Amino acid sequence: AGEAPDILSPEFAENPYAAYRVMLDTAPLFWHEATQSYVVSRYEDVARAFKEPAFTTDNYNWQLEPVHGKTILQMSGREHAVRRALVAPAFRGSELERKFLPVIERNARQLIDSFRDRGEVDLVSEFARHFPINVIVDMLGLDRSEHARFQKWYTSIIAFLGNLSQDPEVAADGLRTRDELAEYMIPVIRERRQNLGDDLLSTLCKAEVDGTSMSDEDIKAFVSLLLAAGGETTDKAIASVVKNLLEHPDQFEAVLADRSLIPRAFAETLRYTPPVHMIMRQPARDVELSTGTVPKGATVTCLIGAANRDPRRFADPDRFDVFRTDLAEETAFSAAAGHLAFALGRHFCVGALLAKSEVEVGLNQLLDAMPDARLADGAGPVEQGLFTRGPATLPITFTPRIP
Ligand code: HEM
Repeated sequence: AGEAPDILSPEFAENPYAAYRVMLDTAPLFWHEATQSYVVSRYEDVARAFKEPAFTTDNYNWQLEPVHGKTILQMSGREHAVRRALVAPAFRGSELERKFLPVIERNARQLIDSFRDRGEVDLVSEFARHFPINVIVDMLGLDRSEHARFQKWYTSIIAFLGNLSQDPEVAADGLRTRDELAEYMIPVIRERRQNLGDDLLSTLCKAEVDGTSMSDEDIKAFVSLLLAAGGETTDKAIASVVKNLLEHPDQFEAVLADRSLIPRAFAETLRYTPPVHMIMRQPARDVELSTGTVPKGATVTCLIGAANRDPRRFADPDRFDVFRTDLAEETAFSAAAGHLAFALGRHFCVGALLAKSEVEVGLNQLLDAMPDARLADGAGPVEQGLFTRGPATLPITFTPRIP
């Protein structure tokens, strides 16, 4: 175990993929002192930790509860099944398309309009950081003039969740955000119950399964989770799919010419550079994995970023290839996904189809606006982040199109 890479080292933060290769080969299961957890990396083991009920999400509680309150992510068994059934229908493909496609299209267009005549843009700070969060705010039927406030709130929630070094200011800011969000949302939820509409917040107010419905507090907690789970992840995903294509110009040209390849490009991006790199689980009993035993009650760090590059599952795993045949596009956004970017099993991402719609619409519009996009001169884009990861900036130049 002395040879195992340190997942909190600066080298790991700079290039986790090199460390993943070492782990997959020589340390597929090891105890990591600093995080007090067993680290697993092979595809078979990570997939099993997601799928088997013996692996709970109990160890999320201390991390999520202070900022979100209780959400489906922390629940298990029947409680989770009922609570998830309350929210899941709103994220089904047909429901999404009918109600929310125009919202997604409008938000992409508005952001792109602000730079399409300029010939250059940082796609992270001017597009990706705004697009998914604005979509969620609009889907909920909240006041659009509050976009900036929600962006600030989601930034502090994410900082709180990723606050490994326990910076007291970051912690205080996260807790302040929890209070501000509750202060804002609870009256809005009460008011919405009196004036139900066709928006997502109304759907949550009306939802009922087996005589269970959501309290004001439940809805506020779910909105808080949506900001983090839907904002941060899709933000990284959209920047990464553009970056991966620009770094592989032949594949960029192929997708530009045939837009039906966009879901494939997105699926391969989710495998190659997943927005969420690691997730914790806690086994309720001793479990024997393919690489050793993880004891009951221990924290298990599941490395999605490593599992997605396990050569036992994917041929030539360090190659970005939109056309790879060992990743099926048809199932890439369902719980039968080959990649593990949305997890698997009962906590499989509720928002996978929403993320797919956002990336399809966003990427289509970006390709229309900048068909000759290229990475701006200088050093290539640098990735950052440990739990969630994506390009820190993505400066692009293109020929402005005069309408
Ligand atoms: C769960 C990834 C987009 C809402 C998850 C999980 C992952 C994930 C890995 C499982 C967490 C765990 O098991 O511990 C992603 C990625 C996305 C994305 C990579 C974008 C590319 C979204 C969007 C929404 C969303 C757009 C909604 C607006 C949720 C919710 C859960 C979840 C509510 C909890 C499900 C449960 O506990 O049953 N997501 N997500 N996600 N995601 Fe996503």
